[in-house]
Amino acid sequence: MTRTLIRNGLVITATDELTADVLVEDEKVVALADPALAESWSADTAIDATGMYVVPGGVDAHTHMEMPFGGTTAADTFETGTRAAAWGGTTTIIDFAIQSVGGSLREGLDAWHGKADGNCAIDYAFHMILADVNEGSLKEMEALVGEGVTSFKLFMAYPGVFYSDDGKILRSLQKGAETGGLIMMHAENGIAIDVLVEQALAKGHTDPRYHGEVRHALLEAEATHRAIKLAQVAGAPIYIVHLSATQALAQVAAARDEGYNAFAETCPQYLFLSTDDLGRPGFEGAKYVCSTPLRPAEHQAALWRGLRTDDLSVVSTDHCPFCFKGQKDMGIGDFSKIPNGLPGVETRMDLLHQGVVDGHISRRRWIEIASATPAKMFGLYPRKGTIAPGSDADIVIYDPAATQVHSAQTHHMAVDYSCYEGRETTGKVRTVLSRGRVIVDGGEYRGKAGDGTFLSRDTCQYLR
Ligand code: URP
Ligand code: ZN
Ligand code: ZN
Repeated sequence: MTRTLIRNGLVITATDELTADVLVEDEKVVALADPALAESWSADTAIDATGMYVVPGGVDAHTHMEMPFGGTTAADTFETGTRAAAWGGTTTIIDFAIQSVGGSLREGLDAWHGKADGNCAIDYAFHMILADVNEGSLKEMEALVGEGVTSFKLFMAYPGVFYSDDGKILRSLQKGAETGGLIMMHAENGIAIDVLVEQALAKGHTDPRYHGEVRHALLEAEATHRAIKLAQVAGAPIYIVHLSATQALAQVAAARDEGYNAFAETCPQYLFLSTDDLGRPGFEGAKYVCSTPLRPAEHQAALWRGLRTDDLSVVSTDHCPFCFKGQKDMGIGDFSKIPNGLPGVETRMDLLHQGVVDGHISRRRWIEIASATPAKMFGLYPRKGTIAPGSDADIVIYDPAATQVHSAQTHHMAVDYSCYEGRETTGKVRTVLSRGRVIVDGGEYRGKAGDGTFLSRDTCQYLR
C-alpha cells in the first residue's frame, strides 16, 4: 500500500472550504483532518500544499477526441487530448461515442472503446451520439445504460449528418424515460439554419463571421424550447449542451421555474469569447467557428448569471479541436465548410478560476460547475467530483496566485492555435493526482498513456 499525504492546503469542494491534510491510500482518499490533528499521520510521500488550493480534479462532461466531423478529424487523439486535460487539472472526461447512420450503437461504442483503450492519461467515460434513431437503436439504449453509458446525444442541427426530426427525438426521450438514460440535446434549428446558409452564400457572404449570423440566437432558443416541450411530453429529463444564447437560457430557466428537470451546460468559449472573435480580420475568425456559435459579448453576463442561479449547472468544454492550417482552412471562401469546433480541454479549470478572480462566481461554485455537478449529472459521484473518504484520489493542487499567459507555443493540445493567445489569467495547476498517482507536478508530466481507465457510470443523480 502507498500512502500519500497532502499537507496544509485549503481543501475546496462544492460544499466546503477547510484547511486540512488529505490522506490518500493507493487510489483512494481515506481521511481529511485538521493539520494539527493529522500531525501523527505518516506517509510514503508528503506533498506540501501550504498556500495552495486542494480541489477535486475537473470532470469535463463534453469532449470529442479524434472525432470524424466536417470532412476531417478532430486533432487531439485520446492520448494527446487526455494528457492536455491532465495538464489543465481535468482528471475525468466524458467523450462522445458515435453511432454511424446505418450502424448500431454497439458498433459505434466498440469503435470508441478501441480508440480510447490503453491510450488515456486520465479516466474516461462515454456518452453515445444517436445518429440513426430506429427500432434497433432505441432497443439498444437499455443495454448501453446497463453498461454504464447512461446518456445519449441527439441533434436538432446538422441535417444529413446527425440530425433527428421531432418524431425521432420524442421516441428517444420516451426510451430515455423508460431506461434512465439522459437525453442531451444539441438545440439549434438546423433546417432553418441551412436555408440561411444557402441565402448567405448566394449573396457572397462567405467569411467566418457569417457562421454566427446564420446560426441565429432565436434558432437556438426555438430549438431549446421545442426540446424541452418534447421532453415534457415524454415525461423525461433533458440536458441542453453548449448553450450560448441568452434567449435559450431563458427557456431553460422558465422550465426549471415550473419544476421540470431541464438542465443545461455552457462552455468557457461563450463566457470569454464573442462574435468580435468570429469577425477577426481575414480568415482568422475561422479559429472561433463552433456550434452553437459565439454570441455578441452582451450574452456573457447572462451566462455568468445563469451559472450563479444554477439555470446553467455545468461548464464543459465541447473540446473539438481543428488546426487552423490544413483543417479550418477547408472553409476559405465558404464559411459552411469550416469544421465546427474549438480546443479547450486544457484551459477550462483556469478560465473558470478567472471567473472567481473576476467576481462572477465563488470558489465553491467553481468546483461545483467544473467537478461536482458534472459528476452527479452523469452518475460518477462521489467517486469523482469531490474529496472525501472513499472518493478516487483525483486531486489538483492549485496555485491561486500564479499567473500564466495562454499560448499555442506552450499548451499541450495537438492544435496549432490557442483561442486565448496572449491572454493572462490568474491561477495555475501545480500538481495533479489521478487515482493517487502524481501525473503532473511543477511543470513536469509524469503520467503515461493507459493510466486512465473506462468508467461505467450510474444514471443521472439529480433524478432520485
Ligand atoms: O462546434 C462544435 N460544437 N463541434 C462539435 C460537435 C458538437 O456539436 O458538439
Ligand atoms: Zn453539439
Ligand atoms: Zn460537442
